Amino acid sequence: MFRERVQNISLSIRKISEKASKQENCIRFDIGQPSFDTPQHVKKAAKKGLENKQGYSPMLGLEKLREEAAREESTKKGIDIGSEEVMITTGGMGALYAVFSARLEEEDKAVFNDPCWGPYKMISEVSENRWSQVQYWDSDRNLRPEAKEEIRDADLAVVNTPGNPTGYVLTEHQAREIGEFADKHDTFLVSDEVYHRLTFGVEHYSPAAYTADSCIIGSMSKNHAMTGWRTGWVADRPENLEQYAKVSRASTACPPRISQYAAVEALKHDSHVKEMRRAYHERRDLLVKRMQNLDWDFVAPEGAIYAFPEVGEDSWSFCMDMIEKGIAMVPGEPMGPESDQKVRLCFGSTNKEEINEAFDILEEEV
Ligand SMILES: Cc1ncc(COP(=O)(O)O)c(C=O)c1O
Repeated sequence: MFRERVQNISLSIRKISEKASKQENCIRFDIGQPSFDTPQHVKKAAKKGLENKQGYSPMLGLEKLREEAAREESTKKGIDIGSEEVMITTGGMGALYAVFSARLEEEDKAVFNDPCWGPYKMISEVSENRWSQVQYWDSDRNLRPEAKEEIRDADLAVVNTPGNPTGYVLTEHQAREIGEFADKHDTFLVSDEVYHRLTFGVEHYSPAAYTADSCIIGSMSKNHAMTGWRTGWVADRPENLEQYAKVSRASTACPPRISQYAAVEALKHDSHVKEMRRAYHERRDLLVKRMQNLDWDFVAPEGAIYAFPEVGEDSWSFCMDMIEKGIAMVPGEPMGPESDQKVRLCFGSTNKEEINEAFDILEEEV
């Protein structure tokens, strides 16, 4: 027997990667995975870390990494976090799962932006809370009245900046507006900032700076090209971490020790982030230029590693057709009710030659 809500989770996007991996020379815009490998000095630090005894790590993570993660978070305007306010987790995903599971009762509701990163819904399904989705922002970058209503009613609201799948980055005004609004209505704010180092010519602002009751989700995955090391964190008050730690203890016991040695080095010596960001920025510019030649409607991404254009037809059939032509993209349909004609392209996983090659094909086909 399996729980109904688990059985009903659809891993439909896997259809895309399965089909793409069978297609020879397919250009992979579908996977949210940096094309870069983890920097050599970081791998070296992990090797050196092997010299230590490889027992369980402390439940909240190695103290050195908690210090570095706290320092990293405290670089954000208006945020001052101490190491006692950071719990290291098995990826940002582990942090989100711990927060949702620890905080939400079955009848409690989480609210997500439309569109949003799919796993928020999946985590809600597994932890059995209710959820809804609403477009947060209008075209003038103000919180929509419908969003205010949902956030006011919810027990927990997720805000994600820079955003997946849109590359949307909140301005200071937006970060303040959603932070203060959640604060005023006692809605706990989960600020997912796992792409905070990846912005292109704009500043990152944390909504958590504007509310007393919030947590920040951080990760080594994308900012440092360390997806496989499964290391992230949640920053919150120590008494709240104590509750999240129970969920971590029940699911993964502790974060992987070896990855934490690597993460300390990556955060301490982080010039690689600048280099990767420069490359992503160039790819973003090229992608925007090439998308302008197509009849696609889109907002140019300002951060993260994704673009989310409207292609003017059903996103599933479009993506399935395009894989046949050698280009893999992710349908927007599972990401929100307003996104069934949109597709997600990850430019973090491709290089400029691949972007050009793909758009030469798209200009013929679309
Ligand atoms: C918006 C967002 N949040 C959280 C995560 C979790 O990242 P990880 O578990 O790899 O740290 C991702 C990964 O793709 C993401 O896109």
